[in-house]
Amino acid sequence: MKKIAIYPGTFDPITNGHLDLVKRALRMFDEVIIAVAPSQKKQPLFTVRERLLLIKSAVRSLKKARTEAFNGLLVEYVKKRKGSAILRGLRAVSDFEYELQMAHMNRRLNTNIETVFMMPSEEYSYLTSSIIKEVVSFGGSVRGFVPDEVEVAVHEKFKIVKDILE
Ligand code: COA
Repeated sequence: MKKIAIYPGTFDPITNGHLDLVKRALRMFDEVIIAVAPSQKKQPLFTVRERLLLIKSAVRSLKKARTEAFNGLLVEYVKKRKGSAILRGLRAVSDFEYELQMAHMNRRLNTNIETVFMMPSEEYSYLTSSIIKEVVSFGGSVRGFVPDEVEVAVHEKFKIVKDILE
């Protein structure tokens, strides 16, 4: 049976840290589905459609990675897609408590679904989507931390926001 990892997150936007994790997971799983949650509470900068387009472009060379949006409970989505595991990244000790809570809750909701944690490369250990947005919002460069098309998209988004506010 095909081993499918479901990699859920907000991906607002996808970073090289996320991609690093996808590439690592592809060595262990037959397929990785990057599952985009709307995460309205986080008030994302990009719409779900925009996030999906950026991810699609970022993983175009990774034949066994694909992306789609999901709504509702993650465990229900994993079951629907016949996922073997939920994939999450552990960057630092600070991630641990929140990840532990989610993994336990997901296990409680469905005992058959395991969560697999992987560590992204050290150089991305302090990276978050928020930090990318923050740096760009103040005019800084995020080259090397996100795919080129993401860099352009974040700059454009902040330009639109600035134009609206002026
Ligand atoms: N490299 C770089 N950054 C990374 C990373 C990596 N390898 N792994 C995580 N991050 C960053 C993310 O960019 C994100 O940054 P942000 O907070 O600035 O946006 C942060 O770490 C963690 O967020 P993310 O990975 O997007 O996860 P999330 O916490 O936003 O998403 C869901 C959590 C979507 C998986 C969770 O809310 C969920 O499952 N929702 C569905 C509803 C559900 O089932 N709820 C019950 C869950 S128990």
